Amino acid sequence: MTGAGTTAVTGGTAAMESAADVRLTRAAPPAVIVIFGATGDLTQRKLVPGLYNLATQQLLPPETAIIGVARRDISDDDFRAHLRAGVEAHGRFPIDEDVWEGFAGRLRYLSAPFDDRHGFERLREMIEEEDAQRGTRGNRLFYLATSPEFFPVIAESIGAVGLAEEGDDTGRFARLVVEKPFGHDLASARALNTRLGAVFRERQVYRIDHYLGKETVQNLLVLRFGNAIFEPIWNRRYVDHVQITVSEELGVGTRGGYYDTSGALLDIVQNHMLQVLSIVAMEPPARFESRDVRDEKVKVLRAIPAFDAASVARDAVRGQYGPGWIAGDRVPGYREEKGVDPGSNTDTFVAMRVMIDNWRWSGTPFYLRTGKRLPRRATEVAIQFKQAPHLPFATSAVESGAPNLLILRIQPDEGASLRFLAKVPGPQIDLRVVSMDFTYGNSFLRSSPEAYERLLLDALLGDSTLFARWDEVERAWEIMQGLIDEWSSRPGPYPNYEAGSWGPAEADELMSRDDRGWRRL
Ligand code: BG6
Repeated sequence: MTGAGTTAVTGGTAAMESAADVRLTRAAPPAVIVIFGATGDLTQRKLVPGLYNLATQQLLPPETAIIGVARRDISDDDFRAHLRAGVEAHGRFPIDEDVWEGFAGRLRYLSAPFDDRHGFERLREMIEEEDAQRGTRGNRLFYLATSPEFFPVIAESIGAVGLAEEGDDTGRFARLVVEKPFGHDLASARALNTRLGAVFRERQVYRIDHYLGKETVQNLLVLRFGNAIFEPIWNRRYVDHVQITVSEELGVGTRGGYYDTSGALLDIVQNHMLQVLSIVAMEPPARFESRDVRDEKVKVLRAIPAFDAASVARDAVRGQYGPGWIAGDRVPGYREEKGVDPGSNTDTFVAMRVMIDNWRWSGTPFYLRTGKRLPRRATEVAIQFKQAPHLPFATSAVESGAPNLLILRIQPDEGASLRFLAKVPGPQIDLRVVSMDFTYGNSFLRSSPEAYERLLLDALLGDSTLFARWDEVERAWEIMQGLIDEWSSRPGPYPNYEAGSWGPAEADELMSRDDRGWRRL
């Protein structure tokens, strides 16, 4: 959209303020947190900085213990030093030596193979020691941050040494947080769920999708259900279409090995994007509670037809980047990245049209696109409304055809903008698109919790609202399975977009066929 003037909206609404704060006003109960995959990237960059952020805000009680488990043989002190570097680089707050000293004192490390019974017996002893010395009340939170092939065996080992049991009468909990990917297709996701389910009950399993922990994604719920003005127009009668974009400038970096087994469809679309879509499209829940919210989200997923050969050909586009330029630097193509098969058939870009067959959305397309090595990092939801039925100013109108647009910026520059037409000052009636903006930075003079920080706290509190329930995950796989089958059975026309471009030409054709275009970000 060009020529957008800006009208700032200052001061957040009370509703937004309270929704953002409500969980963080509750401190976690004492517990032993066990992180499997403790020497990995996720632990160093996200999990431990998230826990440290909680400690800084006094939301992690002193009775908490954190035990890292991995195969590498390192000392407790090396482990602490490795994590401190992660907190320094990725924490939300600068290190406070007193807080760090207390926090580091709770960190212990256990080197054990994930299928080694003796190792898990040693883990049980360590947990019992922490229970006795620190008073963690028998509460345990297990976090699976390993490579996914270890998820079932770790869960089974936890069960085998009796650590998965909860004390129904004492309130003592044992919870399992499972990172993505939850399977690599429908069959493997079902098999994984069955194996986890043999040890843990559904209410003990927290399937993490860090997009749900983002403030801006939660704000979507507040915007929709905390305000009266949006709901009446949030449907097929007023919305022309919705665009959801997750665009990344980065390539696969050091994660080539993992990414080449996944691709954009499984890495982003099947989980993060379908979760965001279900929040945008869901019916209002009666209460902001786990069961109510997740019931409504899964109904949306059930209303999306599963892909078949015809809809794949018509509604989905895949891409893989070749060499190109990003911010003035020459970057290699995907197939030249470290850890990637030089003949790889993996998608690094996906665009698709999704229909939701229910009363609210019938006939209103949702367009999704995501890719690596696109020109800029931007995640947003754009609701494009239908055009005004009749404009009485035709003769001298400028931009008269511009529809109203509500843009929800998930990152960066978190906030929302409403675009509408205004009169350009002057003797004639010229119209120009202007923008009314809300930015988190201006409205709330504090930084938002990181997604992992929020979700770790929720898991400790036993609040699963922002975690994916099995029926959601299963339905998301059901929707995508036909697409996975089609794409894996035929080589893609790769590479088909240059790094630094907005993806393959077919993605534009997908939109132009419907007389629409992608938003320029
Ligand atoms: C992860 C994907 O789940 O999400 C990554 O595995 C991706 O490939 C990341 O880069 C994006 O997360 P965010 O929070 O930076 O949007």
